[in-house]
Amino acid sequence: MKKPVNVAITGAAGQIGYALAFRVASGAMLGPDQPINLHLLEITPALNALQGVVMELNDCAFPTLNKIVATDDAKVAFKDCDVALLVGARPRGPGMERKDLLLANAQIFSAQGKALDAVANRNVRVLVVGNPANTNALIAQRNAPGLNPRNFTAMVRLDHNRALSQLAEKTGSHSTQIKKAIIWGNHSATQYPDLHHTLVDGKQALSLVDQKWYAETFIPVVQQRGAAIIKARGQSSAASAASAAIDHIRDWVLGTPEGDWVSMAVPSDGSYGIPEGVIYGYPVTCKDGDYQIVQGLQINDFSRQRMDATHKELLEEKDGVKELI
Ligand code: NAD
Ligand code: LMR
Repeated sequence: MKKPVNVAITGAAGQIGYALAFRVASGAMLGPDQPINLHLLEITPALNALQGVVMELNDCAFPTLNKIVATDDAKVAFKDCDVALLVGARPRGPGMERKDLLLANAQIFSAQGKALDAVANRNVRVLVVGNPANTNALIAQRNAPGLNPRNFTAMVRLDHNRALSQLAEKTGSHSTQIKKAIIWGNHSATQYPDLHHTLVDGKQALSLVDQKWYAETFIPVVQQRGAAIIKARGQSSAASAASAAIDHIRDWVLGTPEGDWVSMAVPSDGSYGIPEGVIYGYPVTCKDGDYQIVQGLQINDFSRQRMDATHKELLEEKDGVKELI
């Protein structure tokens, strides 16, 4: 029997938390033979709702669920945690840009970075989902100097999955036939979904679709998909966001498949001309529980311009929270 892994989920009674907790507890993230201790964090007014989530989790009788801790104290939730899924934050509503959330949510991630630093496993893997996710991940990282800075990541996997699905639909293929898509930069409308290296059933994606569709339909649709879902549902995406969070951690811990890569927002290290100091979406491969940024891809002018634009937005966001980092 494997030793249980402690997985913390913040905002666990929220929309994403409700979709996420059950899948993590069922083994969808770390495998059917990995016992899970779920550490669920909420704000005090949501503790009653959280208790309801705990009751339902218990009622599932998941073989992989070992123990549940439900609390409004970050230091209790993050105690010895191996994986921290930082979801709890205010979502944007219709008409809001992610930037509008910056100050509202920044404080949460500075406090949670400190709490992780105080009590989490020294090698805790952190995934920030709460928006603006990249900058919140940077804030948490800078407030946790005792933890491995590489392990502070943000989610662009939902954008990556959206790109697979859009391209699959256009080319009449299945998402599993598509390899090597990339989301560069920020999880926002400036993200750059890049198909220059992408293969559909082994063929260059850009030889199968015309440039006009790529530049004028595909890129904006992927960039604006979050807003389109808010418009349709009246609430931001939740089940697909939870599913992408599962994919992000599963691939990080258990590895990416041969011949493919995934997109993760990770601390920039100078790769592809993006200097250190932001959490930037890159193509990565994962092995033995660690990730590596894919190196050596050719970047043309079309891509360069878009990669720099999303970097510029991250620098502006960073400037907006400089007192917290
Ligand atoms: P929600 O409002 O349904 O749930 C958020 C929950 O967080 C609430 O239950 C709230 O009580 C809790 N919370 C607030 N402050 C907290 C704190 N300090 N500690 C612990 N819990 C706290 O929102 P949601 O739809 O679940 O979305 C959560 C976040 O995820 C939002 O910021 C949203 O924009 C973001 N999001 C990101 C992506 C992505 O791809 N990165 C995708 C979808 C949504
Ligand atoms: C998304 O991409 O669906 C989320 O980040 C929610 C949003 O605000 O767009």
